[in-house]
Amino acid sequence: MQNIFLGAEVAIEKGLSDTPDIEKLAIQGTDLILLELPYAPYQEWMEEEIDNIAITYRLTPVIAHVHRYLNWYNREQTAHLLQLDAVLQINIEAFQSFSQKRIAKEVIKRELPFLFGSDCHNLTDRKPNFEILQKKVRPEIIEKSNRLLECHMQ
Ligand SMILES: [Fe+2]
Repeated sequence: MQNIFLGAEVAIEKGLSDTPDIEKLAIQGTDLILLELPYAPYQEWMEEEIDNIAITYRLTPVIAHVHRYLNWYNREQTAHLLQLDAVLQINIEAFQSFSQKRIAKEVIKRELPFLFGSDCHNLTDRKPNFEILQKKVRPEIIEKSNRLLECHMQ
């Protein structure tokens, strides 16, 4: 039996941090807010928005599917992305892509804060895929993600 908590994936836009009541979009029962960066080259205002949300609303930003921005980011920008003051979210699909797997493995190896996600949308073509994760990473790595989530439960 899995617990289900309501959450949202919030697209980062200029001025988002000035929007009132953002904390209502945090993952239920936690101080975590899942933020999706634009699929566009990295720009400094994105980090400002992330930091402002963290400070103003006392939330911990989680960067959604941190491995999916590679097409838009150069090497430097990717390095910067991993250094944001945020939890990095890794979808299990990353382990099925040669280039995205590299980012996922780097996050794990460098012991950066991370959370795994299935990106499940339904029970047919985008169903939960945790069995893939269990084949790709050691149990203690999955446990790390679980522990981090527990640490952010209020
Ligand atoms: Fe997304």
